[in-house]
Amino acid sequence: MNNELRTCSGMRPTGPLHLGHYFGVLKNWVELQNTQRAFFFVADWHALTTDFNRTEQLRQNTLEMVKDWVGAGLDPDKCTIFRQSDLKEHAELSLLLSMITPVSWVERNPTYKEQQQQITTKDLSNTGFLCYPILMAADILMYRPQGVPVGEDQLPHMELTREICRRFNFLYGEYFPEPKALLTPAAKCPGLDGRKMSKSYDNGIFLSDEFGSIEAKVKTMFTYPPRVKKSDPGCPEKCNLFPYHELLASPEEQAEIKEGCTSAQLGCVQCKKIFLKNLHSLLDPLQERRKAVSDEVARDILLAGNEKARAFARGTMEDVRRLVKIF
Ligand code: TRP
Repeated sequence: MNNELRTCSGMRPTGPLHLGHYFGVLKNWVELQNTQRAFFFVADWHALTTDFNRTEQLRQNTLEMVKDWVGAGLDPDKCTIFRQSDLKEHAELSLLLSMITPVSWVERNPTYKEQQQQITTKDLSNTGFLCYPILMAADILMYRPQGVPVGEDQLPHMELTREICRRFNFLYGEYFPEPKALLTPAAKCPGLDGRKMSKSYDNGIFLSDEFGSIEAKVKTMFTYPPRVKKSDPGCPEKCNLFPYHELLASPEEQAEIKEGCTSAQLGCVQCKKIFLKNLHSLLDPLQERRKAVSDEVARDILLAGNEKARAFARGTMEDVRRLVKIF
């Protein structure tokens, strides 16, 4: 563990986590907790930016997400797990950063423009949504990390964070290190229907799914549609299942599957059985750890994490207030 190295990241509690979250983000977080001082938080204020009128599930979703995280291998003894809304320091820093962030910077953010256009089922005309990246910059800069593990979709936000960081340092004195995005090599996780696995497409395999339901889902999974009969040779490069073998199967097993598939020896039903076997090896221990985390345990993890995060955030805010000359 290198104590000089710090990292932080957050996720919005919008519902249960699926395999895409696991391979795309969580696996990376679990590795980082062993080598850096790591802060991971439930970004419940960020969930409000788009769902301010649907808040009934927010509390429970927060707890369920902590369960998914611990199941996946985050260890509250190794990293700090906390809830954004319990750290009022984030709101204060966000406010101060909003003073030095030109409106044009947030208006031209590609993610903002894109979502404004594409998401038609939600009212996104609120300033909270416009200022989403300022709050995110506050979440990040608070912990003065050198790197932040995020998915590719977050790169525009990271760029804005770096710009705000430079502007703060220019105006008030060099203080914040410029955080880099730590990109996870994009894990390809097709959903059951072949599109990207996503909660909104209803095509996901969730970390908390019962195994019976996973088996039923895998049965419906698209493989390589042109392969109709087992005697038709398959095409691993174009198959929706094969990316999972690349993530889960040993190199030897992958080679066998490839050989069996392209020579029409191994049928899709059989191939799915191999996938299910490997999914069991991944998810059994995960689900066992998850089951040990009751609502109460999840709450306790957050309470303890909040205190650890707050001790650090207080230090940052004392420095920041002094630099801004509000002290
Ligand atoms: N915007 C991130 C997402 O949707 C969540 C997030 C909020 C975050 N604050 C953050 C990620 C700070 C990294 C660092 O996934």
